[in-house]
Amino acid sequence: MIAFSHIPVLLEECMRGLNLRPGGTYFDGTAGGGNHSYEILKRTAPDGRLIATDLDEDALRAADRKLSEFAGRYRLHHANYKDYASVLEEEGVDRLDGVLMDFGVSSFQLDEAERGFSYRMDAPLDMRMDRGAPLTAADVVNGYSEERLAGIFRDYGEERFAKRIAAGIVRERAKDPIVRTGRLAEIVTDSIPAKFRYGGPPARKVFQAIRIEVNGELEGLEEAVRGLALRLKEGGRICILTFHSLEDRIVKNVFRDLASGCVCDKSLPVCVCGRKQELKIITHKPIVAGEAEREINSRSASAKLRIAERVTEYR
Ligand SMILES: C[S@@+](CC[C@H](N)C(=O)[O-])C[C@H]1O[C@@H](n2cnc3c(N)ncnc32)[C@H](O)[C@@H]1O
Repeated sequence: MIAFSHIPVLLEECMRGLNLRPGGTYFDGTAGGGNHSYEILKRTAPDGRLIATDLDEDALRAADRKLSEFAGRYRLHHANYKDYASVLEEEGVDRLDGVLMDFGVSSFQLDEAERGFSYRMDAPLDMRMDRGAPLTAADVVNGYSEERLAGIFRDYGEERFAKRIAAGIVRERAKDPIVRTGRLAEIVTDSIPAKFRYGGPPARKVFQAIRIEVNGELEGLEEAVRGLALRLKEGGRICILTFHSLEDRIVKNVFRDLASGCVCDKSLPVCVCGRKQELKIITHKPIVAGEAEREINSRSASAKLRIAERVTEYR
């Protein structure tokens, strides 16, 4: 039995943000252990519906156990949330009352050593959320050029020693392929000058960067957020939890764009662009976790929650 120790991040804020109501149909793009999904189903009793996706079949099995008391009201799909259109079509659902996304890696995935997400436990370098996906962390570490690795560490990890670390990896892999998380963590640590090894485990940012690359976490994100927001019914809410500045910027920009309406020059007497406001932004600044939550759940420290509401009827 898989034990999920995952504490849902900003749970109350997400649930209030979704404006849940019985009879509504909700989409959870990142089911994970089903903790947020559970609350959605509980708070939309007796007849709220939930459609949820996850790339990770282990997570879906755990979510299914967690949600079993609501059998008949939820459907889980082993799918990328970016394929929401085909999932919704399969369910015969056109429009939604709410959308929730809680990006990133789950604590379950981090805790399962053999998944290779954690720099704290020695395991094969894997990091695939979908174990059927072709690209592993070992493929990235051993196959990408030094420049490409440095770019990933800089852009996805915001790692200031990106170039040195990429050079260290290329030097070491020429001797022996790097196939274990422990070895990679050692190489990263050794590549960072000793006086800069503060502010958390040295390998944290590089592991995050490789995970984002392996799972293509930023590809197609903008289109998915836009598409799901436009599937909302009037008054429906979209709540998105991000853990990385690049993700947060994408969500912020999509919300702003859909909230902007007409972009015609003010001097024109009538609108010629034809754009209408589609969303109202509920959180002008993202909601972040309070001190009490940060103390019990370290994952919440980097969480940002943005919420928007559909203002015009989906066409
Ligand atoms: C932080 S966890 C979600 C936890 C969940 N909210 C809960 O309450 O238990 C993120 C989950 O999203 C999944 N995931 C990440 N990218 C995905 C994608 N593109 N499509 C579907 N699931 C994805 C991961 O496999 C992981 O299980």
